[in-house]
Amino acid sequence: MRGLFVTGTDTGVGKTEVACALVRAARAAGVDAVGMKPAQSGHVPGEPSDAERLREASGGVEPLEAICPYTFAAPLAPAAAARLEGREVSLARVVDAARALAARHAAVVVEGAGGLLVPLTARETHADLAAALGLPVLVVARAGLGTVNHTALTVEALERRGLAVAGIVLNRTGPEDDPSVSLNAAEIARLTHREPLALLPWEPDIARRARALGSILAAKIQF
Ligand SMILES: Nc1ncnc2c1ncn2[C@@H]1O[C@H](COP(=O)(O)OP(=O)(O)OP(=O)(O)O)[C@@H](O)[C@H]1O
Ligand SMILES: [Mg+2]
Repeated sequence: MRGLFVTGTDTGVGKTEVACALVRAARAAGVDAVGMKPAQSGHVPGEPSDAERLREASGGVEPLEAICPYTFAAPLAPAAAARLEGREVSLARVVDAARALAARHAAVVVEGAGGLLVPLTARETHADLAAALGLPVLVVARAGLGTVNHTALTVEALERRGLAVAGIVLNRTGPEDDPSVSLNAAEIARLTHREPLALLPWEPDIARRARALGSILAAKIQF
């Protein structure tokens, strides 16, 4: 399967922004890429869900259920949100859905929920999903304070499992840089032996953000 698995060091770090920007940039370059969100939970009414944003970035070429096979009401990890509804996520069903997308399109960009070791099913985490899909993993991390530890731990967990690391992207999640932002890329490179691929700007305007992130990421990340 061609594509990327986009994980994060945490929830709210910019996985959807990065995944959508990568899909849009690939499509603009003539590559038929589609986004996928295996399981989504706790969608805020009135705001577009991750799956809807990924579908829009993918040009609306797939129905929402194909992009996101599982939706749960509670704002919890998929395994826990499913349990509350008396349901269970099946890794095999998620893998089948990803393979179906890969059969119809050139590349699939899969956005996990939360971080790498967030439980997806009763037994498996998102690391197990990345392994089952055989996709290289892109780590999206906050640009600011706290990111060195979270990023190094995530990379260590990926390496321990023998998963391919596509790279690390640092994303600004607020308008003001704290003093660590100018130091974090070098610290992460020293600890992980991987130079972060990009330090993304904070851009409040949606259209400008999509363009800015897309052009930076497309120059650094091939899939
Ligand atoms: N570089 C940026 N500039 C401006 N806003 C941003 C930027 N990156 C992220 N955001 C905003 O921060 C919020 C969190 O980003 P996003 O939804 O991509 O995170 P996530 O890691 O996908 O979260 P989740 O774990 O809920 O899936 C969103 O409202 C998003 O629009
Ligand atoms: Mg998201």
